[in-house]
Amino acid sequence: MDNTTTPRVAILMGSKNDWDSMKPAADVLEKLGVGSDVRVISAHRTPQRHHDFVVGAAENGIELFICGAGFAAHLAGVTAALTALPVLGVPLDSSALDGMDALLATVQMPGGIPVATFGIGKAGAKNAGLFAGAILAGSDESIRTALDEYRAAQTAAVPERPF
Ligand code: RP5
Repeated sequence: MDNTTTPRVAILMGSKNDWDSMKPAADVLEKLGVGSDVRVISAHRTPQRHHDFVVGAAENGIELFICGAGFAAHLAGVTAALTALPVLGVPLDSSALDGMDALLATVQMPGGIPVATFGIGKAGAKNAGLFAGAILAGSDESIRTALDEYRAAQTAAVPERPF
């Protein structure tokens, strides 16, 4: 899925099977009016595709990456090694360890190559999308307005009582 607007965010995932978990990132960016380029790219199964996409991304208009992967999730870390653009990592719960393996692999980057790591699974993907929007909003009034509206709608949707 490519949003209709020119992609400013690349959403990478290690497997087609990760899409259900990563879709909230694309959905929230679409709500904010931010185009995303969604790709299946694996650091270990498609290393050349990974390298070529990441090193060419900046000149294709990409401003930051959201990377989701499970198991020994090195996708975000290797992406960050290949680019100075911000990399947001989303650990996914596709293994027998329920995402704890991916969480530790993504968050525990040695000093020097940062990956901003989010929570495991769909909530992490959603927050990564919102965080990407917040980064871009720093220099884009329309995204700032869309984020304010998103927050206001979220607040308005919370009932006073549970019944
Ligand atoms: C990781 O291995 C992917 O990010 C995925 O979460 C996991 C399993 O991949 P599949 O075997 O389902 O393709 O690289």
